[in-house]
Amino acid sequence: MSASISSARVRQRRIAAAKGSDHTRRAAVKILRTPAAMSRQAGRWLRAGKKIVLVPTMGALHAGHLALMDRARRAVGPRGVVVVSIFVNPLQFGPREDLSRYPRPLARDLRGCREHAADAVFLPSAETMYAPDRSVQIDETQLSATLCGRSRPGHFGGVCTVVAKLFNLVRPTAAVFGMKDFQQLAIIRRLVRDLDFPLTLIAHPTVREADGLALSSRNAYLDPAQRAQAPALRRALLAAATLARGASERNAGTLRQRMLETLAAEAPLARVDYAEVVDAETLQSLERVGGADGRAALLALAVFFGSTRLIDNELLTPTDSRAAATRRAAENASRVCYLNEADL
Ligand SMILES: Nc1ncnc2c1ncn2[C@@H]1O[C@H](COP(=O)(O)OP(=O)(O)OP(=O)(O)O)[C@@H](O)[C@H]1O
Ligand SMILES: [Mg+2]
Repeated sequence: MSASISSARVRQRRIAAAKGSDHTRRAAVKILRTPAAMSRQAGRWLRAGKKIVLVPTMGALHAGHLALMDRARRAVGPRGVVVVSIFVNPLQFGPREDLSRYPRPLARDLRGCREHAADAVFLPSAETMYAPDRSVQIDETQLSATLCGRSRPGHFGGVCTVVAKLFNLVRPTAAVFGMKDFQQLAIIRRLVRDLDFPLTLIAHPTVREADGLALSSRNAYLDPAQRAQAPALRRALLAAATLARGASERNAGTLRQRMLETLAAEAPLARVDYAEVVDAETLQSLERVGGADGRAALLALAVFFGSTRLIDNELLTPTDSRAAATRRAAENASRVCYLNEADL
């Protein structure tokens, strides 16, 4: 290396150090456009002793996605690697769903990744991800049969298949998913457990607009009247949760009824796909919540405004301390942990 190049490097490093190490990372976001390039790069990082945390997305990034990236950075530390995947996965769209019109604001997305200090963005095309004669798919067979799986047949098979491919290509120590998509998270926990993926799942709470609407890329499809009524999902969930927590209502039918009444009163434009009260682990319908078994219940809603389908949920965890201890013990016994940074 010539003296002038090396002194230029030293100068660059000094400038970067003066601006803070974030600056160097932000400037260096790598874009990987093929599975082969992603896999090679992951291998280089792993051989250099780096840990990788993955944030899978379909792009059209909003503050919820950006919060997942920040969470990934906190988990992996300043010297670790955060990879964001942006891939609108055709396998998880039904034939009458919005695959072709799904928003793809790439320049804006890349800016968001850079500003939130992602090290790399994996941006494959569908052609490089799936061979034309592909013939292997991963299907989860229990939790996928309920809630969103009922109205979106094949959706979770598409999700499991792409997530398994991402895990194989990126080889992360941890992956961050949002709790807005609670069923997806529960299914991916099974995927990780049942197929022995050596990683920790980090569940991030739902990020919301000021009026309570859960952020979602599909919110962009709502017209002003629909947008004005959309926070009713959150209010319906909170009305039922208040009944359960404040008035100790145990009957799941009564809680469902409260959600439906709130939606009918506050969102006349909404068409309810489902309003359910399920066990948070098995996703099976419950007749009663808050039993002494210490299991959490989930209030879950899916609602159409026109052709736009929105989802939201609220977790009812047992307040009774013995029941809560039972739940924690069950979580500790499972090999996949929520928020377990000690494993990283
Ligand atoms: N409001 C949110 N808060 C936290 N995480 C979120 C939120 N919305 C989405 N996520 C998470 O971001 C990840 C990528 O989701 P995805 O790209 O499907 O975004 P989305 O907003 O759910 O889009 P769409 O509405 O089209 O499904 C998932 O783990 C999802 O749970
Ligand atoms: Mg989504």
